[in-house]
Order: sequence, then C-alpha cells, then structure tokens
Amino acid sequence: MIAIAILGHGVVGSGVAEVLRNNAEGIAAKAGQSIEVRRILDLRAFPDLPYADLFTTRFEDVLEDADIRIVVETMGGLHPAYDYVKACLLAGKSVVTSNKELVAAAGDELLAIARENNLNFLFEASVGGGIPILRPLDQCLAANEVFEIAGILNGTTNFMLSKMIHENMSFEGALSLAQKLGYAERDPSADIEGHDACRKICILASLAFGKHVHPEEVHTEGITNISSEDVRYAAACGGVIKLVGRATQTEDGHVICLVAPMILPADNLLADVDDVFNGIMVRGDNVGDVVFVGRGAGKLPTASAVVADVIDEVKHLQARKYLFWGAGEEGYVRDYRLAPAKMLLRFSCQKDAGALVQIGRVFGDVRMISIPDAPEDEVAFITPCMPEYLLTEKIDAFTGMTLIKSLRLFLVDGIEQM
Ligand code: HSE
Repeated sequence: MIAIAILGHGVVGSGVAEVLRNNAEGIAAKAGQSIEVRRILDLRAFPDLPYADLFTTRFEDVLEDADIRIVVETMGGLHPAYDYVKACLLAGKSVVTSNKELVAAAGDELLAIARENNLNFLFEASVGGGIPILRPLDQCLAANEVFEIAGILNGTTNFMLSKMIHENMSFEGALSLAQKLGYAERDPSADIEGHDACRKICILASLAFGKHVHPEEVHTEGITNISSEDVRYAAACGGVIKLVGRATQTEDGHVICLVAPMILPADNLLADVDDVFNGIMVRGDNVGDVVFVGRGAGKLPTASAVVADVIDEVKHLQARKYLFWGAGEEGYVRDYRLAPAKMLLRFSCQKDAGALVQIGRVFGDVRMISIPDAPEDEVAFITPCMPEYLLTEKIDAFTGMTLIKSLRLFLVDGIEQM
C-alpha cells in the first residue's frame, strides 16, 4: 500500500478522490499495490463526505508525513501551488499536477528539482484534460522530429464558437450559455482572452522542442472581439473560426508561438472539433499529422489523467520517468510576426473604384469575399501570403479606409488550404 495526499478538493481534486475510491481494485492491480489517500488539504471542511476525516487545513500535515510518497496538486493558480509543489519535491515526494498555470510558469524549474532528487513530476492533465497528449508526444512519437503543434486547447471558447457557428448565437449569448452550463467561470477572462490556451501551448512547445516557453513570450489574442459577422465571413471563405494555439520550430532551432482566433479550412482535421472538445494536431517528420481529440475539461476526464499519472508514479517510485525540458533562453521564442501570414481583412470605405485600386496597389492580387446583407460601405478580401510584419505595414499604409477586422487564415506549410 502506498499513501498519497491531494492538495485542493475542488472539481478536479474531488474527481481524483472519487476515481481512486470507485476504481480502487482495478487501479491497485495496475499500480501493483493499493493506493490510500491519507490526507486532503483544503480550507473548507466536507463533513458529509465518507472520507471527511482525511481533510486538513495544514500543509505541514502532508509535508511532514514521511509515509506520503506522492502528492497530487489540484489547487490551481500559481500560489501557493508553486510553493507547495516545490516543498514536496524538495522533501522527497513525487508530484502529479493538473495545474497548467504552474507548469507553464515553472515547469523547467520543477522538472529540474524532480530530476535532481530522483523523483517524478507528471502533469498529463494540464493539457487537454482527459486526452492523452504529453505521454504520446514524449514517448510514442519519440522517433519523430516534431516541427509543429497546433491545437484547439480551450473547451469553453470552443463551445462558444461552435454555438456562434452552428446556431448563429451572438458572442454574449454563447458566453452566458457557457456560464449557465458551468463551462465558463463567472470571471471567464482566462478562457475568452486566450490565457488558458496560451499556458497549454507553452507546455506543449516546451515538451516538444526541449526548452521552456514562457506565457509572457507568446502573443495571445482571445475571442472577445469575434462577432457573428466574422463567423459569416469565415464561412464565405470556406472555413470556420477556431481559437488556435500554435507552436512551430524554425529551421535554426528557435520557436514561433501564437494564440489567436484563426480561420481553419472546413476540411482541416481540427475544423470539426466542436463544443467543449479539444483537438491537438502534432506534425512529425515520419508520422505526418496526428490528431488527438477528446474532452479537454471536466471533473472525471481530468481526474482520469491525474490518476493515470499517480499509477505511473507508484510503478516508478525507484526510477525517474522521462518527461523533461530545459530552461528557456533569451531570444529562443522568435517574434511571431516573422511567420508567413495571410489574412481576411474587412475595411469600411467608400465602395468605389478608388478603394479597389488602392487594395490592388497595396496588395496586388487579392480574393474578394462578400456575405449577404453586408453594409454598403464594407469591403472584405484575403491578402496574399507574406511575413505578418509586412502585412501589418501594408494595412497601416491604407488611407481613407478604416480597418474593421483582420483575421488570420490557418496556413499549412505557409500555404492557404481554402
Ligand atoms: N477552462 C478550461 C477550458 C478548463 O475551458 O478548457 C480546462 O483547462
């Protein structure tokens, strides 16, 4: 029997306790021994639970219990989660976490401490919830040079965009439905402003390319300014809008990383990933494109990934597991504006020959896009492909035309697929 502790009895932490109780026999068989939850740290008391006596408000009760060999951190947020996880590793306890904010901020440091102390620090649930992605990326695809990862990494925004695309809902309507169904928090900013997706692409990029990518280094746009008109324009282009986190390795060993709404071609492997589902595409030199799809959030799907990590750590108490990356470096993350881009631009202007002449002069050949009932004074077109910084310079050069919206197209190998 091995004793473990759970830090945080919220949605995921309570799911972990539930899965460990409900599937105890099967889990013990897989782990090679039974797993006993010895302590649960939470500021709240849960007197009605059958395991109410396990709760403590004192972190020391976990840290100082030498029998507890594995600690599950499901508190979320940076502090005190970071301090607790670090203290546990320094005290010789392996850790499993679902906390993407923690791993994206300090994964390199915590992995190094785990390595120095011959312990394990696993965090499968931090990306894609219940979808197995970090292990497959690290192990099953190990024979590949992975040069790109792109994913729909946030279930809440994907749910909202799906409602906007398939049920003509407004942004506000989709958000209030997501809140009503419990997908979006009352303060939904981490989801709708793209920070959650940013943390996840940072973890994926760090693991895939070997050096820590910090969230502050990643240009991040959310979906707060996506309107029903944008959705209709995307459809007129032959695509759908998705919030995409993308990381690409450059030929000289740097990385370009971006989180933004993009227009995906309707036949792209990620375009049909709808509702609260996540989808992650990994591109390797030998395997080609591999896509992982599943429930990216929720109590039991996320707990399923956490408990699998616990089983893995129980089986490897005496041996360190894989999963490692080094510290980041100044200049390692390149300016995303160096990457080739192609945009759907929407301008407000006098719709006369002058506007078309100016568009032709600035961009050369463009593909004009129109939707029924567009305002009289609106033109929309798809630009040619060029580095994004050049594209924005050209947009700034327009006179007498006001930019309403620019939306990136999802390019594959720098080429538009629509
Ligand atoms: N808020 C996140 C999402 C939860 O909607 O995907 C899982 O990280």
